[in-house]
Parts: sequence; structure tokens; C-alpha cells
Amino acid sequence: MDGVTDPTFRDLLLDLHDEGVLGGTFTEFLRVSAHPLPRHAIEKTLGPRGARRRLGLQLMGNHEAHLGETARRAAELGVQLIDINFGCPARGAAKSIAGCALLADPSRMRRLVQALRDALPTHIPVTAKIRSGLEDDSNLEDLAKAVEDGGAALLTVHCRTKKEAYRDGTARWERIARCVAAVNIPVCGNGGIEEHAHIEAMMRATGAAFAMVGRAAIADPWVFSGHRATTDESRDFLARYAEDMLERTQGRMVRVAARLKQMIRYWKAAGLFEESRSRWLRTKSPETLVAAILRRAEMEPSCPTPPAKA
Ligand SMILES: Cc1cc2nc3c(=O)[nH]c(=O)nc-3n(C[C@H](O)[C@H](O)[C@H](O)COP(=O)(O)O)c2cc1C
Repeated sequence: MDGVTDPTFRDLLLDLHDEGVLGGTFTEFLRVSAHPLPRHAIEKTLGPRGARRRLGLQLMGNHEAHLGETARRAAELGVQLIDINFGCPARGAAKSIAGCALLADPSRMRRLVQALRDALPTHIPVTAKIRSGLEDDSNLEDLAKAVEDGGAALLTVHCRTKKEAYRDGTARWERIARCVAAVNIPVCGNGGIEEHAHIEAMMRATGAAFAMVGRAAIADPWVFSGHRATTDESRDFLARYAEDMLERTQGRMVRVAARLKQMIRYWKAAGLFEESRSRWLRTKSPETLVAAILRRAEMEPSCPTPPAKA
């Protein structure tokens, strides 16, 4: 999830679960626009552990040749699966006609998937992720078929439209079932999975072969197994995240604290921030916040209180 997750978080998730529980993760989208991306940009997105099993690289763009060449370079770096993003609703994506803006043109989506398929050796699957439409879901089956016709090995469906953004109550699993009925490739259902039990429930209700969990994985990294983390486990995960981030950013406190705040916003595991979330989020000093996470401590109530003005 662009701006929220990163290689550190993904690595911790993969370390936490074996393949039977968590099949894999995708990178955040890597935008391809005016030219094919250089290798170092791909490597940065993959993170220090580089390409490997259980990690797909997600690209976003609308230029067939540039996407194809970027995918080819990624394959040379060892990437084992390439995904294309037709779901991002951000203004930047809309302006450059990428992400979910492409849902307006299914034949172009098909050509983009095909361009990636043609650029890659056959053993590297191409997959695609869509939203359920722009304003409404009336051409959902056409979108799913465009992905299949382009040669994708898997279709991921976020069961909200662009208009519905990320709003609660708009994730409609019957849209995933419609895609399952429309195509012969496996479908991965996404959207509205808020707890472990929803994974099974969604797959049973829709016939989806796989489930993708977004925000609930930040709220609770154990959502995939259903393990109920203890307070110690929950604190330990965040402390390890902070330690790894400090190492990877060469001690850039401001950046690490900003990332931690992103996670604290969502975090639910062991009810860690139930009472104290706003206190943590108001903490001005990056050092104070990072130190408290590293100490696996509760934030001191006095820490974030700004000094009284004279
Ligand atoms: C901040 C944020 C960033 C996201 N970035 C990406 C992204 O880079 N690529 C992608 O395919 N989806 C991205 N998504 C969408 C999620 O992967 C997922 O489809 C969406 O949140 C619905 O699933 P959920 O209800 O399980 O969260 C992002 C979502 C959020 C909230």
C-alpha cells in the first residue's frame, strides 16, 4: 500500500507466516511513465532482500513499451511475478490515465496486460488488479475479461468502485463472485476483509481462489493466521519494524517516526493503542516516539503535551 507499507513491513509479514498461511505479498505500485524504469528504481521498490519467491512487483502505467521493458528488467533482477495496477484512484494516476482511470477503456487494459505478457518469459506470470468500476459496476465483467484476454494468470478484484473510494460499507463481495463467473482464470478477492474469519467467509461466498488483505494487515499482521497476538508480540513486531527501518534508513528518525505513525493509525493487534492512540499520534518528537516503540513501552502521558505558552 503506497505511502503506508514498505519492504520492511512486507519482510516482517513474510517472516511471520509460512507459505501455507500467507502465499505472498505485492510491492506498492511502481509508476512507469516517460521511460522504462532503471534497475535501481526496481531494486529500491523490492527492498534490500531483493527479488524472491512470494513477492510480486506491481507496476502502474499506460505505455505498453515502457511497461514491457521495465518488466523485462525486473525479470532480469529475478522478479518472479509482475502485477499491473488498474485500481489506484489517486489524482496523479487519473491525470496521467493510469491506475483505475484505465477502467474506462477495457481494450487498452487488454493491450497493456498483453504487452507485459509478451515482454516476459512464459514462466513469469502476469497478474492484474482492478477496481469494480469507475462510477458504477455495470461493466465489471468486461473489465475482468479484458484482463483474462490479455493473458493474465490471475485477476485481483477490489470490490469497490472508484467512486466508493475506501468507504466502509461499500465493499460488495458479490462483485467478486461476478468476476469468478465471468473468467476462467483464478480470482483473488479483495476489499472489506477486516478480520481473519472474513478471509474464509469471502472465499466461500464468492468462489474466489485467493484473498488479498489490505488495511487489516496493518491493523493486525496476524490476520492471515487468526493468531491472537499478545501485548508482547504486538509490541515486539513494532519494535522490530522500528529497528529494521532505522537500519535501512541509516537512522533517519523523522522518516521512521512518520512510518510508525502511519502504522499506529491502523494498529489493533492486542488492543495496543486503544486508549492512547491520539497521544502517540500527537507526539512531536520523532526521537521520543521511536524510543518508546523500541523500549516496547507505553507512551508516557506527559511526553506529547506541548509546553504551556507564557
Ligand atoms: C494508503 C493506501 C495505499 C494503497 N496503495 C496501493 C498500491 O500501491 N497498490 C494496490 O494495488 N493497491 C493499493 N491500495 C489498495 C489496497 O491494496 C486494497 O485494494 C484496498 O485497501 C481494499 O482492501 P482492504 O479493504 O483490505 O483495505 C492502497 C490502499 C490504501 C488505503
